[in-house]
Amino acid sequence: MDNAKSNANIEDRGAMPAKRLLRVLAGGSVAPPPVWLMRQAGRYLPEYRALRSKAKTFLDLCFSPDLAAEITLQPVRRFDLDAAILFSDILVVPYALGRRVGFVEGEGPKLDPIQPTDLGKLNGDGVCTRLAPVFETIRSVRRGLPASTALIGFAGAPWTVATYMIEGRSGNDFSASKSFALADAKNFAKLIEVLVEATSDYLTAQIDAGAEALQLFDSWAGVLGEPEFRRWVIEPTRSIVARVKKKNPDVPIIGFPRGAGMLYADYARETGVNALSLDPGVPLVLARALQARLPVQGNLDPQILVAGGDAMRRGVETILAALGEGPFVFNLGHGIVPETPPEHVAELVRIVRGAAAA
Ligand code: CP3
Repeated sequence: MDNAKSNANIEDRGAMPAKRLLRVLAGGSVAPPPVWLMRQAGRYLPEYRALRSKAKTFLDLCFSPDLAAEITLQPVRRFDLDAAILFSDILVVPYALGRRVGFVEGEGPKLDPIQPTDLGKLNGDGVCTRLAPVFETIRSVRRGLPASTALIGFAGAPWTVATYMIEGRSGNDFSASKSFALADAKNFAKLIEVLVEATSDYLTAQIDAGAEALQLFDSWAGVLGEPEFRRWVIEPTRSIVARVKKKNPDVPIIGFPRGAGMLYADYARETGVNALSLDPGVPLVLARALQARLPVQGNLDPQILVAGGDAMRRGVETILAALGEGPFVFNLGHGIVPETPPEHVAELVRIVRGAAAA
């Protein structure tokens, strides 16, 4: 492949990273494309469930470097993926800001819904101190990773994290978050600013500890209208990217404004992210147009991974036919769901690498 050849030449000059994921995020194309999967560590893996029961709460698990590092490495070992993603959660940031955060079995996250009067109590100064165990996890994972596997750090983007802080749980119609943003934009902007600062510091500290790429999860970006998307998704993301890149211009940042639709293009142009993670609703024709400007990652429907078989093979092949020339990272369009059979993940990786049994 021409691209592969020219990449090799660039690499000879020392300009292209050696790890396959990092090459693509730097704008190169590699064949077959690198593959990792959102939520690749988690309840669908029996080895995760075994370790999960060793910690009292989910946050205890996130803050136990030995357990969290081992969980991070489990899917890499089992499937030989091109990247590990730090095992943690986007809600460790509200926790570090002083909010109460819990995870209820079968229900998901539970927080005390924040009121405008609570804003003054958010404590941004100690965020990285309180999140120190996460950095320890990162250092430990780096020691345990194969030389060819990249380590991705991550955080939630401010809008998505704010919805959990305001709704107190996974949003449904997001009415509490929207009415806060609309009726009290000044205080809502304050909350977003606190999150921008905390998230930028947190991501920078992840890089210092050894994260080689970052992903910003804006899982609920798609519930906003265009003006609100610009103000609460694009603007804060642009600000985080600028802050993180000031110290570490070469660490690539993947943006995931899930559900952004046509606005993916504006997000790509205006935020400064290096690559886009595409949800399953992004048509391949739009994906290709976006790929002409920056590397894209995605976007198999996680339910197709649950189904497996021919549906999965067709789904993967359709995406590879459209985007496989690169720059492209194979991934799902959202996280792996707990019902996923691990054998389907192994088969998916074989298909992407072109070595599946007929
Ligand atoms: O991808 C990975 O393997 C790394 C770990 C990771 C987790 N959460 C572990 C987790 C990552 C990257 C996340 C991100 C995250 N967390 C997002 C953004 C991505 C997305 O899915 O949209 C969001 C919105 C959250 C908030 C969150 N955490 C929810 C809504 C839930 C409950 C729903 C669920 O899937 O359980 C969590 C809990 C959580 N985070 C679990 C895991 C493995 C399950 C907890 C358990 O084991 O009991």
